[in-house]
Amino acid sequence: MPKISKIWAHEVLDSRATPTVEAVCVLDTGQFAISSVPSGASTGAHEALELRDEDPARYKGKGVLRAVNNVNNTIAPAIVGMDPTQQSAVDDKLIALDGTENKTKLGANAILSVSEAVAKAGALAMKQNLYSWIQALAKVLGLVTAYHVPTPLFNMINGGLHGAGNLDFQEFWVVPASSKSYVQSLQAGVEIYMTLGENLKRRGAIHSIGDEGGYAPNLFTNADALELFVESIKQTPYALGRDVFLGLDVAADSFYKNNEYAIRDKSAPMDELAFIEYYKELNNSYHLALLEDPLAQDAWEGWKKIRAALGDQVIIVGDDLLATNPKRVEKAITEMACNAVLIKPNQIGTVTETLKVIKMGHDAKWKIIVSHRSGETNDTFIADFAVGIGADYVKFGAPARGERVAKYNRLSDIDAQLTASQK
Ligand code: PGA
Ligand code: ZN
Repeated sequence: MPKISKIWAHEVLDSRATPTVEAVCVLDTGQFAISSVPSGASTGAHEALELRDEDPARYKGKGVLRAVNNVNNTIAPAIVGMDPTQQSAVDDKLIALDGTENKTKLGANAILSVSEAVAKAGALAMKQNLYSWIQALAKVLGLVTAYHVPTPLFNMINGGLHGAGNLDFQEFWVVPASSKSYVQSLQAGVEIYMTLGENLKRRGAIHSIGDEGGYAPNLFTNADALELFVESIKQTPYALGRDVFLGLDVAADSFYKNNEYAIRDKSAPMDELAFIEYYKELNNSYHLALLEDPLAQDAWEGWKKIRAALGDQVIIVGDDLLATNPKRVEKAITEMACNAVLIKPNQIGTVTETLKVIKMGHDAKWKIIVSHRSGETNDTFIADFAVGIGADYVKFGAPARGERVAKYNRLSDIDAQLTASQK
């Protein structure tokens, strides 16, 4: 039985130059695994706590030395000696050490860095690919899936909190048809991304790059961005509605104030009913395949209405609504508030809890979307994780910026391995 002989963490940077936690798990065999955790900008109110130092003398308060010390001084002594292949026992220990509902004592960033490093070390000890090991861990929890290289939701235009104050909606996606292979999807996504960039340049809309590698152009309205997609796709060999589709992460909380939604497409803020009508019009014009966080994160009644109105045509995705939290997912299943779950391991804090939430979504026949965060490192854990749990979709941003490309390239590696093994 392999044993964990050492765990330690230190501070590294994410793609926004913000400190984050990286943990190392060393085994008595000499093998070791490293994992670093991402960080959101449009963080939901119901997520587990990301522990920051709040010390203005370092990194404008964003240091993570308290989380690092929690790994080195509290977590490591309790985990050393455990078997890295016993993921749920390790995660139970982490949860017990913290002892709070939202991981406020040790920090979800501290806890997840260790949970993921142990998962990687477990795969090494089992001499398995990480995606195979994730599949095995899921199976133990009753989540039986086939490997699936998911369809990417390519985030090509960045607005909201990821843009430059340019647009209200946070993410504008091009989504390849799920019938396409990963190789075909990637090529289509990249070619459309290139064409879109050329068009933005020609129009003189500044095309700086947002946090997730999408363009952050100056446009009049959110619908203009969708119109640009339509125009750009026409200039490629791909047909909208057949080869590729459109989708949005609205991240509606970022412009929700006093029970109203204010967007630049309308002269006056809209109440919930008017906003749902607006989505219906948008869907009539653009046939949205997926719509994430269309309403505020606690607007449960509105979510029920929008799912009832659009849920048979559009995949309604809960991100801030659900926060990868089993209690919120259970409520959303019972109340029929959406029909897909966005999975972000750092919203809940351990690999095992994340797998349990996926099982709930899977059992409810929801679509499963595994997601990065807007602040990322080059860690590719999430790519293996998505394949191992058989996710329908992944959200890794645009096919640009190293920390996003690392994940797409890892999916290419896995896809090639799986294709070769089927020959
Ligand atoms: P975040 O954004 O990582 O900044 O929270 C991603 C999302 O909202 O899906
Ligand atoms: Zn989101």
